[in-house]
Amino acid sequence: MIILATFIFNIILIIPFCAGLAAAAARYGSRSLDCKAVPGTAGWPSKDSWASLSRSTGGWLLQPAPPGAVCHPGQPTYNATQCPAVQSGWSTFEFHQADPISTYWNQWNNDSCLPEEGLPCSGQGYPVYVINATTADHVRLGVNYARRHNIRLVVKSSGHDFLGRSGAPNALSIWTHHIKGLQVYDSFSPRHCNVKIPGTAITVGSGMQMEELYSALDALNQTIVGGGGRTVSVGGYLTGGGHSLLSARYGLGTDQVLEMEVVTPSGEIVTANECQNTDLFWAMRGGGGSTFGVLTSITVKTYPTPQIVNLILALATTDIQSPSVFDMVAYILSQFPHLGDQGLSGYAFIFSATPNPYDGGATTVAGIFMAMVLQDSTVEAMTELWAPILAHVNTTWPGQFQLIFQTKTYPSFYGWFKENYDTSAAGVDKIGGSRLLDADALTRNLTLSAEVFKQFSEGSVGNVYLVAGKGVHDAVPRGGSNSVCPAWRSAYVHANYWADFAPLNATAKAEAFDRVNYHLEPLRKTLAPDSGAYMNEADPQEPDWQHQFWGTNYARLLRIKRVVDPDDVLWCTPCVGNERWHQTDDGRLCKVAAWPSLA
Ligand SMILES: Cc1cc2nc3c(=O)[nH]c(=O)nc-3n(C[C@H](O)[C@H](O)[C@H](O)COP(=O)(O)OP(=O)(O)OC[C@H]3O[C@@H](n4cnc5c(N)ncnc54)[C@H](O)[C@@H]3O)c2cc1C
Ligand SMILES: *[C@@H]1O[C@H](CO)[C@@H](O)[C@H](O)[C@H]1NC(C)=O
Ligand SMILES: *[C@@H]1O[C@H](CO)[C@@H](O)[C@H](O)[C@H]1NC(C)=O
Ligand SMILES: *[C@@H]1O[C@H](CO)[C@@H](O)[C@H](O)[C@H]1NC(C)=O
Ligand SMILES: *[C@@H]1O[C@H](CO)[C@@H](O)[C@H](O)[C@H]1NC(C)=O
Ligand SMILES: *[C@@H]1O[C@H](CO)[C@@H](O)[C@H](O)[C@H]1NC(C)=O
Ligand SMILES: *[C@@H]1O[C@H](CO)[C@@H](O)[C@H](O)[C@H]1NC(C)=O
Ligand SMILES: *[C@@H]1O[C@H](CO)[C@@H](O)[C@H](O)[C@H]1NC(C)=O
Repeated sequence: MIILATFIFNIILIIPFCAGLAAAAARYGSRSLDCKAVPGTAGWPSKDSWASLSRSTGGWLLQPAPPGAVCHPGQPTYNATQCPAVQSGWSTFEFHQADPISTYWNQWNNDSCLPEEGLPCSGQGYPVYVINATTADHVRLGVNYARRHNIRLVVKSSGHDFLGRSGAPNALSIWTHHIKGLQVYDSFSPRHCNVKIPGTAITVGSGMQMEELYSALDALNQTIVGGGGRTVSVGGYLTGGGHSLLSARYGLGTDQVLEMEVVTPSGEIVTANECQNTDLFWAMRGGGGSTFGVLTSITVKTYPTPQIVNLILALATTDIQSPSVFDMVAYILSQFPHLGDQGLSGYAFIFSATPNPYDGGATTVAGIFMAMVLQDSTVEAMTELWAPILAHVNTTWPGQFQLIFQTKTYPSFYGWFKENYDTSAAGVDKIGGSRLLDADALTRNLTLSAEVFKQFSEGSVGNVYLVAGKGVHDAVPRGGSNSVCPAWRSAYVHANYWADFAPLNATAKAEAFDRVNYHLEPLRKTLAPDSGAYMNEADPQEPDWQHQFWGTNYARLLRIKRVVDPDDVLWCTPCVGNERWHQTDDGRLCKVAAWPSLA
């Protein structure tokens, strides 16, 4: 999710919602033998047992208190001096990534200890123990311990995850954040493969994050196909697919992967590449994090850093009820396939009623705002690219839309990134949803598009990211293919919609899911029914998620999951092969009454 620094519109959610509380009845029985161990029951290891795990990791087993507890009198870590810093850090990504158990979106810790006196505080929504891993061996010890003791295992790197896969109650967590390191190559020979892959590459620790990589590579005049958030880590980004401004040219982030080092659920440290552990290699490039193994290091291609021509383009009107707004938006989006083929990429935001940032919010405006780039090009080329499109808008809707068209050139990708990285706030309760849109969806019927995008952005903002296109369509991942949703291979746009909601309020949460559903439904049902969603930025309750996230790749992913993790040591939702377990309302993970035969 990207809200660029330049996108200063104040987004206010003003949708009235249809009620519809999904009262999730506990449908599944939970005989204790069929559940993972939880503290306080006989199956949970003794203190001595945990102490021996701690010794074997060299003392890196943590039992962290919830970070918000410093604000709660009565909690062991209560400290009124520290509380204000936690409160002010809470909205930043930097705070949560540096904490062993915190995640960016409060509901994934079940709002169980927000840093505010008066609210409840317990460790109930957090993992119990954490291995602060710096080596593959630390990871192996954790995986083996969880498997042998029937303990729920999770993996946290940065904690960005929008689907809640990087935390869980009653769990042992492997925190990969401190697995760092970077090695550069002029060309790369995958281990035990008789092949030399031309072109520069890097091998990095799985805790490495975007800004660390961009800045280190910038010193070499290189960059990677990476994301827009500074603290997003390669762990979740690359296992989930990874879209980028550079994708239009080179493909998805995961299309660049040459090799992985993985700790398997059976506790082996293996190399996966095009000639060994090829199924694992295929599955972990798009099949999702915390499912097939724990990534410890990864090798990806790097590229000469491009010079960037940036464009801020807005077309907006204060006549927000005018039907022309969405006709214009539909027309602009219909040009995205052509623009993408010409090398343009970037982020667009459709807004239906937003305070006008150019008059301090005195008026409300509707239209489209874009932050787009061309690589290794010129301002003249950018202007020429848009001239016929803007002329069409001008002649079709004369005088109706105010135009902002501002260009700026940056000498490198990192130069661009430093001014334009994602500045959205963490520390809220938030869910979202995604739909991938191909040329047909964007151009087939603009009357339909206008209706669909109107509902998509109604009362708020809908994001339409031009982050796929030619490079993604033509990508040839090592080994011939990987497991990302096949819809990426014809998509131009990843459309997404986000909803924040009040914590500790089941009604507000259910309404947020309804809201996401309301805005995405016309994209799913009408505009692009045969497409799919980008799993890393998808609705955690996406209907038919197996096929929406992975399409025809799901069957093979499921077979691989059963082979590499027959006992479901790794479990998350919505994740490949998770159908045999269910998390109860009180946070236990139990086998479902009748295991479905899905293989
Ligand atoms: C501000 C922001 C900007 C973003 N920008 C982009 C973008 O430009 N492009 C894009 O494609 N996505 C983007 N995303 C989405 C991002 O790709 C996902 O949230 C991704 O899952 C984050 O990975 P992580 O490792 O940082 O987070 P985490 O929450 O730590 O992990 C995410 C998932 O991966 C698993 N995982 C992490 N590390 C490992 C590992 N070493 N081994 C096994 N599993 C692991 C976790 O268990 C979890 O399931 C953005 C998200 C945010 C919040
Ligand atoms: C509270 O936090 C402050 C600042 O970090 C520290 O100096 C102090 O020792 C802490 N107090 C207690 C009782 O831990
Ligand atoms: C985790 O390990 C890293 C690297 O050894 C260390 O710098 C950091 O302080 C540790 N964090 C915690 C919370 O123990
Ligand atoms: C990077 O590019 C600059 C400008 O072209 C050049 O001066 C510098 O030597 C290059 N650095 C490397 C490591 O290639
Ligand atoms: C729009 O049309 C008017 C004349 O109708 C012209 O003066 C103006 O330059 C045009 N603007 C653009 C951006 O094409
Ligand atoms: C285009 O969509 C509109 C609105 O849904 C519909 O009424 C019309 O029949 C469609 N046109 C074609 C050619 O399918
Ligand atoms: C919970 O959220 C709902 C819907 O937004 C709202 O009507 C209600 O007042 C909230 N309840 C509390 C206690 O704030
Ligand atoms: C989440 O918190 C609620 C109380 O707010 C509690 O009823 C529920 O059991 C918790 N869920 C989990 C999984 O612990």
